[in-house]
Order: sequence, then structure tokens, then C-alpha cells
Amino acid sequence: MSLPERPARLVTETECPLERATGGIFVGGVSVANPLWLAPLADVSTFPVREMFRRLGAGLTHTEMISLSGLLHGNRTTVRMLPEVGEAPLVLQFFGCGAEDVRRGAAVALTRGALPQVLQLNMACPVRKVFRRGEGARLLETPDIAEAMVKALGEFGLPVWVKIRLCAEGYPLSTENFVEMLFEAGADHVSVHGRTQKQLYAGKADRDAVERIARAFPGKISGSGDVYRVEDVLEYLRRGCVGVLVARGGMRDPFLVPRSLAALKYPVEPALCLPSPADRVGLLMELGFRMEEREGERGALSLMKRFLSGMFKGTRGAAHLRTTISTLRTVDDVAAVLRAWQETVEGSDDYGGEGTEEHTDA
Ligand SMILES: Cc1cc2nc3c(=O)[nH]c(=O)nc-3n(C[C@H](O)[C@H](O)[C@H](O)COP(=O)(O)O)c2cc1C
Repeated sequence: MSLPERPARLVTETECPLERATGGIFVGGVSVANPLWLAPLADVSTFPVREMFRRLGAGLTHTEMISLSGLLHGNRTTVRMLPEVGEAPLVLQFFGCGAEDVRRGAAVALTRGALPQVLQLNMACPVRKVFRRGEGARLLETPDIAEAMVKALGEFGLPVWVKIRLCAEGYPLSTENFVEMLFEAGADHVSVHGRTQKQLYAGKADRDAVERIARAFPGKISGSGDVYRVEDVLEYLRRGCVGVLVARGGMRDPFLVPRSLAALKYPVEPALCLPSPADRVGLLMELGFRMEEREGERGALSLMKRFLSGMFKGTRGAAHLRTTISTLRTVDDVAAVLRAWQETVEGSDDYGGEGTEEHTDA
């Protein structure tokens, strides 16, 4: 991989390292090359980020959560979040409340965006603004509404997935019964984040609870929560999940994806497991250029800064790189600093990029 020239070339699916993989898996109504997926991440899993993770080998990507009410009111920012052509397999995630909003909002999405492979309902977002409106994780407390929404989404004829958190004590249904209700209403797959709404993103995800659900509904559950290391990925699979969502761990270290795939014996470009300085710079600049094309300089800079520390973690001069880049105002300036760093460390076999794995709680 080399540093891309502007404009960055489009990364097509045929360049995806896993294109050569033999035999994918069929999950929740869709064929995927492997069980390692980019999670839905608000403000992060935009098109350029999804493209980058496909390139790194992710078997499937999710959009960030997209507001049903924003869609049905024709909000321009919301409509711009919709899928684009060439993203398969892609999960389009909606958030909202009520069957009617599902019908009307999803109809707008399917008319104005490219066709995704899966439609998903978010019943996991813990954020107060969302929760207060009866959306996201609040739906775990209103199973009748949740059930009606799943049925309404099923009317579009695409696979229906749901992403949930754990039901807390005192909720109308246990997590297991809630999941059973979702499947009876027509859901094809459920992703379980092993935290309750109250936990937000703190504390440990409860893998035992995720495993109980995965064992109760074999082949139908993917797991999410504290996926930072290859071992975390393997553990979710060992505990019976058919898929694993890479979320904060992928933001901190996107190369977690190819390393995990290699551990799972999927064919991966070796360079992606032990990325050279040029690979790291190339990937980050490609992301920046693609984002700049779409969202302008500010959006590109903020996304690049978000991924920077993870992509260069452990390498020589990473701390200096981070501080310098945090002061820069243009993508071209970032490119120049990264090129200079690359020239300094290139050729040295101890530039520190051997991909050590550290677990850090968020
Ligand atoms: C910045 C951020 C944005 C997120 N946005 C979404 C979202 O739009 N939809 C969703 O279902 N989950 C969302 N999540 C939750 C993640 O998909 C994932 O389930 C959660 O972070 C747990 O995984 P982790 O502990 O490995 O990060 C978000 C999480 C983070 C940190």
C-alpha cells in the first residue's frame, strides 16, 4: 500500500483482501465473507470509514444510526447518511419509535439511498435525547412497540435485524424473552451489546449474558462489547456468537480487523497485519481524502484525528505526531507531516509498529 495521490482512488470491493476467501457464511438472510463486522457508530461509520473497514477485511459494515423521523421530514443531513452503491453487504440502521414512522421513514430510505442488504432497528442507543423520545434502548421497556416496529420493517421484504442491549431487572421482559419476541415478530438476526442502558459505555460488557442469548438462539446472535483484542473476537465466537462487532476497538486500532481475521485463518494481506509506515500513512490519508471529498476539510480533519492515535500507536514518534497534527488546519498539512514521519522511520526495522495489543477500558 502506498501513499495515495489526491484524489484518492476508489477502493472497490474487488480490492478487498477477503475477496479471495473461500466460502462465506450465511447469517440473518445475508451472505458475509467472515464474522468480523464494523459496528454501527454514530458520527464515525460514515461511507469513507465503512470503505476503509471493507478494505481491512470486515465481512460486513453498518451505517451509523439514521433517524426515521429525519428521513420522513426529508432532513438533508439525514438523507446524506443513506447507503451508497457498491457497499454490500451493508446493514442500514434506523432509530425511531412506532410502526408508522418505520413504514414511512424506511420507504424514504429505500427510495433515496442505494439498496442495503439488511434493515436494522436500533433498540440499543442509551443516550438521553434518544431514550426520552421512546427510541433506542427505551424500546426494551416497551416490547409492544418494538414488536410492531419489527413487523412493519418486515413489510419491505429485506432481512430485518435488531440491535439491543441487555434488559435490566424490572423490565417487562427478560433479555431472552425480548429476543424471542423479536424473532417471533420476524427478525432474522439480533446483535446483543452486553451492557444495560444505565451502564452507557462504562463498566464491563457481560459476556456471560451475551453467551446465554447466543446459546438460546444458535446461529442468530452477534455479540458486541469490549472488543479490543484478537482474543476478544475469538471469545465471542467461542461463546456461540455468529458475528462480532468491532466498535471502539476498531477506532483505536483498525488493524485489529486483519489481525483477527488472520487468527481465524481467513486469507488476509500480510501487510495489513503488520502494517509498514507507508501502509499506515496510506490508509489514514485515503480516509482523509475521501472524507474531504464528501464532508469538506473540517469533517476530514476531525475524522483523521480520531483515528490517528490508534493507527500510529506504539510507533516511533507517535506522541509527537499526535501533538503536531492536533494543531493542523488542512488535510494537505497533515499529509505533509505524515510523509515526513514516514521518511524518517522508513527503512528502520525498529520503528515500533509490531502491533502490540493493549486493553484499555473506555
Ligand atoms: C461513538 C459511538 C457511536 C455509536 N453509535 C452507535 C449507533 O449509531 N448505533 C448502534 O447500534 N450502536 C452504536 N454504538 C454502540 C456500538 O455499536 C457498540 O455496540 C458499543 O460501542 C459496544 O462495543 P465496544 O465496547 O466494543 O465499543 C456506538 C458506540 C460508540 C462508542
